[in-house]
Order: sequence, then C-alpha cells, then structure tokens
Amino acid sequence: MQKDQTSNAPGSNHIQPFTPRINCICCIGAGYVGGPTCAVIALKCPEIQVLIVDKNQDRINAWNGETLPIYEPGLDEIVKHCRGRNLFFSTDIDAGIRDAQLIFISVNTPTKTYGIGKGRATDLQFVEAAARHIGQIATGKKIIVEKSTVPVKAAESIAKILYSNIDDNVSFEVLSNPEFLAEGTAINDLLQPDRVLIGGSQTDPGIEAINQLAWVYEHWVPPSKVLRTNVWSSELSKLASNAFLAQKVSSINAVSAICEATGADISDVAHSIGLDKRIGSKYLQASIGFGGSCFQKDVLSLTYICEALNLTEVADYWHQVVVMNNYQKKRFARKIIQCLFHTVSNKRIAIFGFTFKKDTADTRESSSIYVGKYLMDEEARLVVYDPKADKGQIISDLREVSSQDPQRVDRLVSVINDPYDAAKDAHAIVICTEWDEFKALDYEKIYNSMYKPAYIFDGRIILDHAALLRIGFHVEVVGKVMKKPVNDLTPF
Ligand SMILES: NC(=O)c1ccc[n+]([C@@H]2O[C@H](COP(=O)([O-])OP(=O)(O)OC[C@H]3O[C@@H](n4cnc5c(N)ncnc54)[C@H](O)[C@@H]3O)[C@@H](O)[C@H]2O)c1
Repeated sequence: MQKDQTSNAPGSNHIQPFTPRINCICCIGAGYVGGPTCAVIALKCPEIQVLIVDKNQDRINAWNGETLPIYEPGLDEIVKHCRGRNLFFSTDIDAGIRDAQLIFISVNTPTKTYGIGKGRATDLQFVEAAARHIGQIATGKKIIVEKSTVPVKAAESIAKILYSNIDDNVSFEVLSNPEFLAEGTAINDLLQPDRVLIGGSQTDPGIEAINQLAWVYEHWVPPSKVLRTNVWSSELSKLASNAFLAQKVSSINAVSAICEATGADISDVAHSIGLDKRIGSKYLQASIGFGGSCFQKDVLSLTYICEALNLTEVADYWHQVVVMNNYQKKRFARKIIQCLFHTVSNKRIAIFGFTFKKDTADTRESSSIYVGKYLMDEEARLVVYDPKADKGQIISDLREVSSQDPQRVDRLVSVINDPYDAAKDAHAIVICTEWDEFKALDYEKIYNSMYKPAYIFDGRIILDHAALLRIGFHVEVVGKVMKKPVNDLTPF
C-alpha cells in the first residue's frame, strides 16, 4: 500500500485529524473474541466509548456481573477498570448500531452441521443475521469490520446484504480485521500483537476506513505492525495462519507415532527440530491433538474453499491435517485400552483436564471429549477433574458425542472438584490438558490411593516421568517408549 495511506495514523509524522474521528465503537458478539478485544480497545482508547452487544442475555448479565462469562488471565482487571467508564455490555443491539461509527462483527462462525458443505463449510448464518441487523438500523456513514473468521470473499456478501435495504443517506465501508489471539494468552496477544491485519478496498473511502481503524489500534500497537492489505488477502491470511499452526501440531504428532514405534524420544526430536530457526520451536509440543473452536473449523473451511475452487490436491493436503489430529486422539485412547489389559469395562479412569488447553475454561472441540468418548465406548467409568471447566458443560459435551446412548453419560461419568478424590480407587490417570497444577500434585499420595498396577497416561508430556516410575507408576507418554516402574516384577 502507498505511504500516504498511513499518513493519518498516530504513529505517523503527518498526523491529520480524521473527520469525524471515531468516538464510539460497537461490537456485535460478546464472546471469546469480542469481549477481550473490545475490553482492550476500551483500556487503550479511553476517549472512545465501546459498546459490546449480544443477543444472549445471560452472557451480557455475566459480563456485567462479578464472574465474567469467560476465563482469561488479566481480563477481569481490565473489564473492572473500564466497565461503566467507556466500556458497556448490553443486549440493546439497535442502540449499539445506531450510536457507533465503527461496528465489529464478532459473532460465531461454526462449521455447518447441515446441508451443502455439512461438516466442512463455514456456517455464515450468524454473520448474515448481524449484517442484516446493521442494514436495518444504521443511518449515516458506518465502518463495518469483519472480525469473525470467515471464508474468502465473505466481506463481499456482507456488503451486498448491507446495501440491499438502505436509503441514500446511509453508506458503509466493509473491512476485514481478523483476530489472531489465542485463548489462554488473549490479553497478552491483544496488548502485544505480532501484527494487526486490516483489509479494505483500495478506493478513497476504503483507504480512509482502513486508516480510521488503524488509528484505533495505533493507540498502543506500533504502526509498523499494522498491516494493510486488500480484503481477500486479509480473509485468507487468517484461515492460512490457523492452517499452518494446526499443520505444525499434526506434523509433530505424526512424528510422535514414529517415536513410539521406534524408541526415538519426541522431546529430543522436537527440541532438535525447533532449534532450526526456519522451523521454530513453538507449536512443536506433541500431544493428544489440537482442540478449540478454531483450528479444525478453519482448516475444514479452507479445505471446502479449495474444493469449491477445484483445487482438489490442495484440499486433500489440508484435510490430512484434520485426519492426523483425529488419528492422534484415537491412537491415544487405544493405547490406554491396550495397556489396561485390553479392557477398561467398569474400570475407574481419572481424566485430569477437560479444557482444550490450559488457562481457559473453554472445552469446545477439546481432545478430552473424544478420548472420553472412545473410553466410554468401551464402558470405562470416567471421573473428570478440571480446574476451570464447567461441570454442566463437561456432561453436555460428552452427551453430544454419545448421541446413540446419551444415558450412558449418566451411568459412566462423574465430575469431581478435587484431583485426589478423582484418582482414588482409579486404575489409571489420563492427563488430557496441560494445566500447571497437575505438575505439582502429590503423586506418592495419589499412587497409594489407586488400584494396582497404577497407570498414568501423560497426553501432554508435562509430568516428571522418572519420579513417577520411582513411585511405582506404569507411565505411558505420547511419543516416548517408557521404562517399567522400579518395583515391577513381571517377567515380560
Ligand atoms: N475463540 C478464539 O480463540 C478465536 C480466535 C480468533 C478468531 N476467532 C473467531 O472469532 C469469531 C467469534 O468467536 P468466539 O469464540 O468469540 O465465539 P463465541 O461463540 O464465544 O461468541 C459469539 C457471540 O456472538 C453472539 N451472536 C451471534 N449472533 C449474533 C447476533 N446476530 N447478534 C448479536 N449477537 C450474536 C453469540 O450469542 C455469542 O455470544 C469466530 O468467527 C471465530 O472463528 C475466535
């Protein structure tokens, strides 16, 4: 983009005030992205009123209450600092749309569960509903920012919807501004982003809109990190980023299977791979697979787009990332069953961790759900402990994957709020989430309360395996071939 297009940014040498300068922002969607993102904007831009609106009354009540609807380190302090000052949460979506000059659409974009593209395409019904709502209510000049992750060219559809129902006094400029935050580190990611990406049209009003949004971010983000592209590059960059990250996880997990078959050690292999600067060490932790609301959905969306564009080989390539991820979860569950003498029927198995990663309460697409499902398929009794996940959510997630027999969850699953109680009388502990507190538990005490032989399956490679072996545990770890415990007298 041309240099003059950034000339109004706060960090630029040629600051020219915009007319009118943005003083009110609305965000439609008070979820994991809309809430933290706009709370940080409110914190860093005290002169801007930030209205976060949602159709979900319970969620808004929670944002206005003592216990926020999502757990994210650092979020509570920011919300409590800004709420009532320049940060407001409401279900009055009309008022938000009316008052704001800039509106983020930050609604959910799940994978379609019906019709054409079922199981792969992105379901855009919530984005469309938000755009229609804006089209009905808005007056004057508005900048509409697509914050949700969407397929390439979705902004074009949003613009068509917005313009389908308006009079001459209204005008819109649609931007793409995908969010790259990761749950668990969202506040830090927002305060110190690797980059902020803004895609817009290369017309004068488009460039002005890009500059307006850049001006908001440049209250705290260095201008060199605010990238400007066309809308399609911006939309595709988000999907491609998540596909690359997911691919890295699936690649190291594929290598972990080779390690288990050969005696190589995944920690050593990952360390040596990661020292190569071209590869880098992040996202090279072997595990029971990625979860969360984004990776799988975005890779599937990319796959579907490739299919629609007749790029069959490209679609197949990306789809394999998801295939590998599913394989890893199943492989781990099979290993548990095989180690527990090929039957887990009626055996008590303690599941440590249910969220898809540590430092979040989010269980969406968590690997624990699928490991739990495979074990329930074999009639294991599951006792789940997680420091943050909601008990009702755990049960409902497991019910969802037990659609043929939802009653079996009542029969086989209990959720307990103490890890020692969960492990008592268990045949095995299965580490599904890398919560730090699992490293600090008293495993001697746990061992003494368990059935023998007592097994630990470390699906996140976080425990001190040598210490566990000394205690007497049978230890199984993703990507490693473990020794027998010190007190094991079996001849094979
Ligand atoms: N969760 C993440 O880590 C993450 C990271 C980057 C990008 N994203 C993307 O951001 C988007 C939002 O994700 P999320 O995790 O915040 O979703 P979420 O489900 O937590 O929140 C979405 C919210 O939008 C609300 N909503 C839906 N339609 C609405 C409408 N028409 N009017 C008002 N409110 C409406 C819902 O009630 C819900 O509270 C998705 O596209 C996702 O792919 C998510």
